[in-house]
Amino acid sequence: MKAWIIDGGFGFENLKQAQRPDPKPGPGQIVVRVRAVSLNYRDLLVTKGVYNPKMPLPRIPCSDGAGEVLAIGDGVSRVKVGDRVAAIFHQRWLAGGITDIVGRSTLGGDLDGMLAEQVLLSEDGVVPVPEHLSFAEAATLPCAAVTAWNALVEGGLKVGDTVLVQGTGGVSIFALQFAKLAGARVFVTSSSDTKLSRSIELGASAGLNYRTTPDWEKWARTQTGIGVDHVVEVGGAGTLERSIKAARTGGHIALIGVLTGNGTVNPLPILMKSIRLRGIFVGSRVMFEEMNRAITVGQLRPVIDRVFPFTEFPQALQHMESGAHFGKIVIDLTK
Ligand SMILES: NC(=O)c1ccc[n+]([C@@H]2O[C@H](COP(=O)([O-])OP(=O)(O)OC[C@H]3O[C@@H](n4cnc5c(N)ncnc54)[C@H](OP(=O)(O)O)[C@@H]3O)[C@@H](O)[C@H]2O)c1
Repeated sequence: MKAWIIDGGFGFENLKQAQRPDPKPGPGQIVVRVRAVSLNYRDLLVTKGVYNPKMPLPRIPCSDGAGEVLAIGDGVSRVKVGDRVAAIFHQRWLAGGITDIVGRSTLGGDLDGMLAEQVLLSEDGVVPVPEHLSFAEAATLPCAAVTAWNALVEGGLKVGDTVLVQGTGGVSIFALQFAKLAGARVFVTSSSDTKLSRSIELGASAGLNYRTTPDWEKWARTQTGIGVDHVVEVGGAGTLERSIKAARTGGHIALIGVLTGNGTVNPLPILMKSIRLRGIFVGSRVMFEEMNRAITVGQLRPVIDRVFPFTEFPQALQHMESGAHFGKIVIDLTK
């Protein structure tokens, strides 16, 4: 079977297509025939060696994929051959809070990832995918969607709340969709007016271009009068201070990404405003299952920006790096 590997060093120049033996499931294991994979910003960082410069190589990249169960080992009872499934991001984080051990079981990082025709997983490491979704749509869920779900729903989102999402990438667009599903009001920032228009079509109440109006925190406060209930923080240095100002007293910031890099932040306003600042690292299998239930009830459809064939994985990563995308980028393994 074919796979992409990062081999001999990091960087785009070390992405290679390889042939690997077809995996055979042992007791408690399953083989999934992967139909589609989606990209996350993390896959770009992993490829460049920024995410974990000590990651052992070769490594099959990408955490997110969906397909059907091709074979099962002895004792497997959670799935059967032919089931449509998606892999969970942390293979060992099934329920409850995250711990060191379960946190070190990530696909496409600690473990080989999903960018292969067939993958060997524990039967515990998958969830059934909503019936109304294609494999391409289902492949968008494991990292970005579960992260957005954890950020908002586990963060206490209520009907009528206000939510600020930064940018229009994978996590932020899922956050917008879940917030709308839950009956919240959503405000979006983006570097692109065209992307803001698309966000409004998806249900956002208003949008602001953070390139032309860098002090978007003032706008967020004006929109709501008191500041927003929840901020989906993907920016990092420079944006976190603004998010703290944009949040209402007693508000919640889900700290997800560091697109702009690391920095320092003044802790004083966090305590003076009693802001709940919560670090997010994707989510558990239970969160994924609860999210899938909501996706099914709401008949929610993930927003796919573009689908690339398997052979064009490096081009797909470059498309992500360009920042031109809106929502998710998918690799179709059947092409
Ligand atoms: N902690 C976790 O569990 C977790 C999980 C998933 C992702 N992440 C992190 O979250 C971030 C987003 O991931 P993703 O996969 O959604 O990435 P993505 O699809 O590549 O989206 C990135 C988008 O963020 C927006 N952006 C970039 N710089 C910004 C800034 N200074 N202020 C506001 N928005 C900005 C841009 O939107 P516009 O084009 O609209 O400007 C860009 O398209 C990354 O840092 C990633 O590593 C963390």
